[in-house]
Amino acid sequence: MKLIAKTFHGLEKVLAEELKNLGAQNIKEVNRAVEFEGDKEILYKSNLSLRTAIRILKPIHQFTASNDQELYDGVMKFDWSSIMTNEETLAIDPVVYSEHFTHSQYVALKTKDAIVDQFRNNTGKRPSVDIENPSVRLVIHIAKEKATISMDSSGDSLHKRGYRVGNHKAPLNEVLAAGMILLSGWNKKMPLIDPMCGSGTILMEAVMYARNYPPGLHKKSFGFMGWKDYDAELWNKVVEEAKDKIEHPRLRIFGSDISVKAIDIARESALQLRFNRDITFSVSSFEKLEPHYPKGMIIVNPPYGERLMKDKDVVDFYRMIGNQLKQTFIGYDAWVITSHKEALKNVGLKAIEKLKLFNGALECGFHKFNIYDGTMKKIIKFR
Ligand SMILES: C[S@@+](CC[C@H](N)C(=O)[O-])C[C@H]1O[C@@H](n2cnc3c(N)ncnc32)[C@H](O)[C@@H]1O
Repeated sequence: MKLIAKTFHGLEKVLAEELKNLGAQNIKEVNRAVEFEGDKEILYKSNLSLRTAIRILKPIHQFTASNDQELYDGVMKFDWSSIMTNEETLAIDPVVYSEHFTHSQYVALKTKDAIVDQFRNNTGKRPSVDIENPSVRLVIHIAKEKATISMDSSGDSLHKRGYRVGNHKAPLNEVLAAGMILLSGWNKKMPLIDPMCGSGTILMEAVMYARNYPPGLHKKSFGFMGWKDYDAELWNKVVEEAKDKIEHPRLRIFGSDISVKAIDIARESALQLRFNRDITFSVSSFEKLEPHYPKGMIIVNPPYGERLMKDKDVVDFYRMIGNQLKQTFIGYDAWVITSHKEALKNVGLKAIEKLKLFNGALECGFHKFNIYDGTMKKIIKFR
């Protein structure tokens, strides 16, 4: 069957690689998604094990529509009793990029009307709507005139791994953090430091990746569990096989933050998944942090200065980051993600790789700096 894994801008390549490793076929990267083919087992594995997918869709019906009536008629052309009964509940999520349809909620409403009318016409009874916990969640996607209706096999977004506790003010999305780790080329064996770890998302995703730990293991339910063809035995097999592949290597992963509260939250999350032995936490400002090993990788998501910092302070803050990297972390590769372009320049090191990612609506640079022995000398020479 044809399937689509949705993701964030910039993560298509690593997602395609993950799908290849799962055994998916005919993999094609598109904008913020990867199309692929696979059987039910691949569908279940994708939901359980993909780190960089937000949800997995199964397209079931395509048609063209440039007005409300064509939309209604197009939806009616599918036999909805083939995927659900009138006893079950449904929800419809609209994704609309079309000048013909300006109100996405209206598109969802029209789609729902056509489906329930078909059931009422054929059986005298209609399925009801349940936004929170439907038996079948559908996505109607309209691009210009092309409408595609898909079944959402994931239900709740796959970024909700179930390890988050407490409330950090600016946590990274788990899918984005996992994508950053895969993009960074971290090889699992080298020491990894997040010196401004906040709630610890980068660290948790790093441990999951290094241990081959399926990110969906603690999710209680998936959309496909409400489907007519749900195969509980196959799902259990997929879960058991994935659990058997969890590894227990010795990891050198370090997280620190200036905030005691943030470290408390991060520690608590690590405890949830029994990752507490895999991560060494400390409360420290980056200015005072000393590495435990002479070589390694830093992945850091500093404050962007959106709310609390003034622009001048942000620039100074990133200058401090650069200085600390140059003075204390020689031998390390450092990846920094931020939406503050100007501040990023003030790190004062030449980025050897520059990637574009989005943290929610914020366009961010994810830049790699190589802190080698000559870095300091060069800086001094060019002053
Ligand atoms: C954008 S948040 C990081 C969020 C984190 N990636 C997460 O997923 O929760 C930035 C963090 O930097 C920390 N921070 C700010 N100034 C710092 C400093 N000088 N040294 C260390 N940490 C600092 C803040 O306490 C905050 O937790």
